[in-house]
Amino acid sequence: MVGGERRIADAHLRMRVAADYERRPLQKAAATTSEAPQWGLRFVFHFLMNSIETNISKKLAELGVADAAGLAPLFAEVHARFDAEATVATDEGSWKLFRDAWLGRKAGVLTLITDNWLKPASPELKRVVGAALNELRGHVEAKIEERRVAIEVGAENAAARDSVDLSLPGVVRPIGSRHLVRQVFQEIEDIFVSIGFSVVEGPEIETPYYNFEALNIPEHHPVRDDMDTFYLELPKGAGSPLLLRTHTSPVQIRTMEKTQPPVRVIVPGKVYRRDNPDATHSFAFHQIEGLAVDSDITFCDFTGTIEYFVTQFFGVGVKTRFRPSYFPFTEPSVEFDVSCPFCGGSGTAAGGGTCAKCKGAGWIELFGAGMVDPAVYGFVNYDAKKVSGFAFGIGIDRLAMLKYGIDDIQVFFQNDVRFLRQFP
Ligand code: FA5
Repeated sequence: MVGGERRIADAHLRMRVAADYERRPLQKAAATTSEAPQWGLRFVFHFLMNSIETNISKKLAELGVADAAGLAPLFAEVHARFDAEATVATDEGSWKLFRDAWLGRKAGVLTLITDNWLKPASPELKRVVGAALNELRGHVEAKIEERRVAIEVGAENAAARDSVDLSLPGVVRPIGSRHLVRQVFQEIEDIFVSIGFSVVEGPEIETPYYNFEALNIPEHHPVRDDMDTFYLELPKGAGSPLLLRTHTSPVQIRTMEKTQPPVRVIVPGKVYRRDNPDATHSFAFHQIEGLAVDSDITFCDFTGTIEYFVTQFFGVGVKTRFRPSYFPFTEPSVEFDVSCPFCGGSGTAAGGGTCAKCKGAGWIELFGAGMVDPAVYGFVNYDAKKVSGFAFGIGIDRLAMLKYGIDDIQVFFQNDVRFLRQFP
């Protein structure tokens, strides 16, 4: 290797080695020193064999080029080589080597083309070489500047990423709020907890035994029709069928199985029924169960507890009443009504006419309840002669609708933030 060839090869070699080292994974760093000579040899060999180094250190006459047609492939090859190397200049160090290899005054590729191709060319060829060289120079200078800017901007971005400006205000993330149904759960839980109830939960997937049988609802009992539900598809031979619970009442049984009286619990949770959706029905909704069992609980304890809850929840002006009803697991069973909180129980709207909420009745049905049927105690090994108690099951969604004046239950499940934001 002589003269210009060696200088070009050296400059290109430094650049390639620097760039390739840059790209090597960290875990290989320890091996770099011993591998360097081999890499160097490979690149020297590569450059020796590369025609552009050979070509630009020779005069056009030596290369047998006497006209524009012969010149074009030479310049095309130089262009291609330049474009390939431009991609390797990825940081300041490799960019400087790249720039010097091409624009260096003494041994840069453009200087060698000027010295070896342009200057000795015949007057006719000189014009063509000059034009091609100018075009190449424009391309090289523009690209080298473009790489410089890209590297600078990249470095600045990296620096910005790494620096933390503690004086900047923090990122304000929108904070959600609890869903209205959850808020109502909380209101009810607070009221009952304040009078000695604890909160327990149970599974949403139940066996028919807990959902029906242990609640004194045997198979083929007509009340099951009102609580038609979703059964899980189980593998063949899986044993007991499983269903999505239709009410929170199974947790009465689960609690009594585990606890001896006195028992005072409330059970918030999700329940499911095969009901067609409309303004007051959803196939998934929420209930809160209440159960109190002790040695001497009377119907008076029951009505007193419910009245306390209603006045805490709706306010002191609201009256309660109960009507006979039927549930297989309570005896006697009742439906609790409240005097309409919207018209004060008059049945007449504030601006005259019939109250739309209670439809003129002055009362609104709230929930089902009753004294625990002694038959239920038989399923949990309680002595029905020694204990008594009451239970109730409140539909939370309808209660929330009533209290907050919402006329369609479906809005609870649509997750429209415009609705949810009204109850922060
Ligand atoms: C029961 O579910 C009984 N387990 C309640 C009970 C518990 C009675 C303890 C006695 C002792 P019922 O089927 O009536 O009862 O449902 C209770 C409440 O759930 C209803 O008053 C209503 O507010 C609500 N509800 C019933 N079906 C739906 C539905 N599809 N969508 C929304 N709410 C419903």
